[in-house]
Amino acid sequence: MKISILSRNPALYSTRRLVESIRSRGHEALVIDTLTVAVEVGATAVRRGVKVIKPRGIHSVLTAGRIPIHNTAYLPQVDAVIPRIGASITYYGLAVVRQFEAHGAITTASSEAIGKSRDKLHSLQTMGAVGLPIPRTAVIARPEMLYNAVHAVGGTPVVIKLLQGTQGRGVLLAPNFNTVAAVLERLKRVRKQILVQEYVAESQGRDTRVIVVGDACVAAMTRIAAEGEFRANLHMGGRAEPAALDEKTRQLALAAARAHGLAVAGVDLIQSNQGPMLLEVNSSPGLEGIEGVTGADVAGAVVRFLEREQSHKKRKRRKSR
Ligand SMILES: Nc1ncnc2c1ncn2[C@@H]1O[C@H](COP(=O)(O)OP(=O)(O)O)[C@@H](O)[C@H]1O
Ligand SMILES: [Mg+2]
Repeated sequence: MKISILSRNPALYSTRRLVESIRSRGHEALVIDTLTVAVEVGATAVRRGVKVIKPRGIHSVLTAGRIPIHNTAYLPQVDAVIPRIGASITYYGLAVVRQFEAHGAITTASSEAIGKSRDKLHSLQTMGAVGLPIPRTAVIARPEMLYNAVHAVGGTPVVIKLLQGTQGRGVLLAPNFNTVAAVLERLKRVRKQILVQEYVAESQGRDTRVIVVGDACVAAMTRIAAEGEFRANLHMGGRAEPAALDEKTRQLALAAARAHGLAVAGVDLIQSNQGPMLLEVNSSPGLEGIEGVTGADVAGAVVRFLEREQSHKKRKRRKSR
């Protein structure tokens, strides 16, 4: 197969591991800098993409480290894409993924699924709508609604989150109304929409990160927040250890990925007194932490998933002929 990884940086651990796994399973890996893909739209673009574009597609090749990164003016013809779209380029990245989809490429994450998981509110609504357990959450667009939101989720302490944060940035704990008031002041200036969420104190600064690939949980770790910190993110100084998943947590992780339509996902859960609760679903989970901690071959699992999808697709095509 020809598999393309959409990434801005081939030197990243996750990109390197995916390239390695693609090659070691006998496929061709093509790292494409998402921002250099010119998105050509319209019916002719799609038709032409299927037939003509192949050899002319790649117009320059840059090298960073040992892995070449492709700077392509056209949409190269590939069998599958692994989008690793950073939060800062979501809008353009999704357009590129959509274009690959229009050309019939298999993807580990559809543009729609990435969009849904990127927006914390949309993501929670998606999970809530199918009855999955999430902490009580309210969203507000105006700072003066903050007090109402705090009451709606059961009073202080509350967790306040920016809608588009990652790696723990944009997530804070407001232990009392004084802090809520201070946040309110700051929000008036930044004009960002926020989520107010019930603080699940009994999770004690721990969360569970599960990597879902297809219909399996291929790796899981418990992250433990640093002293004096409630966010368990590794970027916030948390440490991690391998986790053995109970059946409930495993089923929830699979259901959360499915609800978003993500074939590959990093699902975050916390353990509450009522059982596991879903926090968020990531469409391009980092591989370094989880592979390092668990020893699992996540990159290999992703490539094997694409192989299975490819053979499904071939079988379907044969049947319809
Ligand atoms: N409602 C909550 N109750 C307790 N801890 C929470 C809650 N929400 C988030 N956390 C902690 O903060 C971390 C970051 O929150 P999360 O929603 O995953 O944002 P991010 O996208 O920035 O990682 C979580 O991994 C968890 O450790
Ligand atoms: Mg998180």
